[in-house]
Amino acid sequence: MTTLELKNIRKQFTNGGASEDILKGISLSLQKGEVTALTGTSGSGKSTLLTIAAGLQLPSSGDILFEENRMSALSAEARRNIRATQFGFVFQSAHLVPFLTVEEQLLLMLDTAESTLGKSERTQKAARLLQLVGLEHRRHAYPASLSGGEKQRAAIARAVIHEPKVLFADEPTASLDSSRSRDVMKLLLDLTRELQIATLLVTHDEEMLNYTDRVIHMSDGAMARANSLIQ
Ligand SMILES: Nc1ncnc2c1ncn2[C@@H]1O[C@H](COP(=O)(O)OP(=O)(O)O)[C@@H](O)[C@H]1O
Ligand SMILES: [Mg+2]
Repeated sequence: MTTLELKNIRKQFTNGGASEDILKGISLSLQKGEVTALTGTSGSGKSTLLTIAAGLQLPSSGDILFEENRMSALSAEARRNIRATQFGFVFQSAHLVPFLTVEEQLLLMLDTAESTLGKSERTQKAARLLQLVGLEHRRHAYPASLSGGEKQRAAIARAVIHEPKVLFADEPTASLDSSRSRDVMKLLLDLTRELQIATLLVTHDEEMLNYTDRVIHMSDGAMARANSLIQ
């Protein structure tokens, strides 16, 4: 089932008077319960496409459909609301709040995205998710005492605690060694299946593509080829 669809996305930037085509008509769809990878060399337009898909910046032309919503037809406020409640984000660095414990990072996210749950339900939800990402023993730890892999797992738990429909992950393993990178990718794939999220993963690490369902290769702002890894 398609959750998010991009149709013929183009993006131009003007650099010193000259206009440059950074994205040259990209179409793709993200499916529920699947990880779609965007890969390609640095500068090929992966992050630009991810931020456009997430509504963080607008395309020069083309359409983005999230469920029944055409994103370009919505107000900035409505787009912000969809981002806060329906989307989750993970980046290369974990961006944890230094003075909050792991559990508090998750509860803060629920405060922002969810208004219906009571206090004890929120704590239970955080505990369940920390168990799922293998951090229950680090519940009361502050970011400074976590390893790189633990920080990224906390960031992933925080990104999905409000049960987003789409998860955007831009190079989430780029600052980890290869064994921790594999663990983080397995976790992303597991959560995508378990919570039935449509995940868009940007990576330039070929090995990480083994943990994804579909791979889109980008080159110079265009789709070079797309592989389905599903039999
Ligand atoms: N705001 C911007 N203004 C001008 N050029 C930009 C802007 N954002 C990205 N670019 C250019 O777009 C190209 C693609 O960048 P990016 O999407 O970050 O690539 P990737 O994530 O694949 O490394 C690069 O040449 C970059 O310099
Ligand atoms: Mg990038």
